[in-house]
Amino acid sequence: MDPDLRRRLEAVVGAAHVLDDPDTRASYETDWTRRFSGPAACVVRPASAAEVAGVLQICRAAGIAVVPQGGNTGLVGGSVPRAGEAVLSLRRLDAIEDFDEVAGEVTVGAGVTLERLQEHVRAAGWDVGVDLASRASATIGGMVATNAGGVRVIRFGPMRHQLIGIEAVLADGAILRRLPGLLKDNTGYDLPGLLAGSEGTLAVITRVRLRLVPLRPARAVALLGLPSLDAALQVVRAVRRAAPGLEAAEVFFPEGLDLVLRHTHLAPPFPRPYPCYLLLECAGPADPAPALAAALEPVADPAATLLATDRADRDRLWACRERHTEAISAEGIPHKLDVTLPADRLAAFEPAVRARLAAVRPAARPILFGHAGDGNLHVNILGLDPDDDAADGAVLELVASFGGSISAEHGIGIAKKPWLSLTRSPADISAMRAIKRALDPAGILNPGVIFDLEPPAPGVAEPPGRV
Ligand code: FAD
Ligand code: MLT
Ligand code: ZN
Repeated sequence: MDPDLRRRLEAVVGAAHVLDDPDTRASYETDWTRRFSGPAACVVRPASAAEVAGVLQICRAAGIAVVPQGGNTGLVGGSVPRAGEAVLSLRRLDAIEDFDEVAGEVTVGAGVTLERLQEHVRAAGWDVGVDLASRASATIGGMVATNAGGVRVIRFGPMRHQLIGIEAVLADGAILRRLPGLLKDNTGYDLPGLLAGSEGTLAVITRVRLRLVPLRPARAVALLGLPSLDAALQVVRAVRRAAPGLEAAEVFFPEGLDLVLRHTHLAPPFPRPYPCYLLLECAGPADPAPALAAALEPVADPAATLLATDRADRDRLWACRERHTEAISAEGIPHKLDVTLPADRLAAFEPAVRARLAAVRPAARPILFGHAGDGNLHVNILGLDPDDDAADGAVLELVASFGGSISAEHGIGIAKKPWLSLTRSPADISAMRAIKRALDPAGILNPGVIFDLEPPAPGVAEPPGRV
């Protein structure tokens, strides 16, 4: 690392927080899936918005690009360097401030993990509207930057819907601060909404103000074995109407459950396998089990239905779904696709995607699961070379032909970039490029993530499915 650059960065964040030793850098250079990695010039660990601004100004002047990083649990390769960028780790911005226990709002540093925030606000009778299995490491800044979804989107929406204010640093070091805690604020463009889902390409998020949801301590979980995804979706529709406390409707299949059971040594939930499994969770101020049982009565086979109310039993059922990600990664390096389909096309998509994969790459081992209530299916593929993206392209083209989106909640990152134009129009992409150029003209913030700054040369057609 250039000694002059190191000296200038150390003057901003302190010598202990500029890391360029290869062993220390290693965990910042490879993503959670192990599919994406690259060398970092260094890792810089600021502790405030002012320090972030100082680091960005130095990097911009030195022509060094920056990859913002939170918990590094992202699944699309956007949180790790590609070619000698500096990693800007936001984990030291870990203050929880200004918790309004009456209004149910809190201001949170970008580096606070979801789990820490959950523990903090639950103690006062509030909860965070978004929940996901990576809660112990995923940071609030990373969750806003990816507009994370998770298991409660049917009830509370994704991260963008929880956001009522933001502090973020632009590429030139200017600090945007919209943290007033106003529920209504129609004074021009919605900058927090724009930064949610921007994947570190427009600004570095340093603090956010979130709306909270009332803690619903009484919970009931049902796990159903069903003949098909179509049958599972019909149950979801019926329960949604009949059980207003429905918070999660998650689906998985026998190939994924087998992997989870093998990896976790958990006992199988049923004495026999089923073609499809549906996990439902209801929550409320009072025990939601009677309402859930009544909603299931006309649509579910009692012999293939488990109902749990106490914490340990609920956790055992949830493990069958939540531990898919780690069980799949323990088996190999997966290709992870995360797609949404229109609600009425999801059931038909499932056999179609299996058939498409078998035709394109017979060695592919698909493992499907996801958020049935949102039309969001995670198509994980084992058995492929990490660099062979023919199966990825085939699945995403199929998604586009079904009227879906190539990313539901994980983002585009590096992994999905070649296929952005399948589900975003040329006008969409050029508007996004214009915003990127306006906010980051030198292109130092997470370059190459979502799209490349430069479109193809004039007169050269963008190949279908490629940006
Ligand atoms: P990182 O991985 O560090 O970064 C993700 C992206 O955000 C990168 O592009 C990075 O540059 C950018 N970024 C990070 N911090 C900032 C910041 N402060 N300012 C600007 N840009 C920033 N995702 C879901 O949506 N739903 C799920 O249900 C879900 N479940 C998961 C389960 C497991 C087991 C795992 C490993 C991952 C899961 N994820 C899920 C993916 C991941 O946890 C989310 O994308 C999460 O929001 C990433 O947060 P992070 O702090 O780890 O961000
Ligand atoms: C999930 O729903 O479990 C996550 O999005 C993680 C994944 O897709 O592996
Ligand atoms: Zn998910």
